[in-house]
Amino acid sequence: MPKITFIEHDNTEHTVEALAGQSLMQAAIDNSVPGILADCGGYCNCATCHCYIDEMWAARIPTAKHAELDMLSGAIEANSNSRLGCQIQLTNELDGLVVRLPLSQT
Ligand code: FES
Repeated sequence: MPKITFIEHDNTEHTVEALAGQSLMQAAIDNSVPGILADCGGYCNCATCHCYIDEMWAARIPTAKHAELDMLSGAIEANSNSRLGCQIQLTNELDGLVVRLPLSQT
């Protein structure tokens, strides 16, 4: 079970136990983490699961596909660490992953 730490824009931390195979977005929703809205339910169509992957972890996550990059191009406050949580599948190797959440999703 990978443990994931979500850090809200105000630096409030939420460390949750996720399931390998579920998405980063679903781990947040299942644990009532504020700041991940997931309006489209995980279909890469809303960008309300936008998050910033900690620098240390960015290279360990598979690169974004075209549809995700398209959505991120219109996301508020997107930067080079931006990803959509619904497009990241968790694995045991991601135990300890740290992600930050944008102000726009508070
Ligand atoms: S939940 Fe809508 S894009 Fe991720």
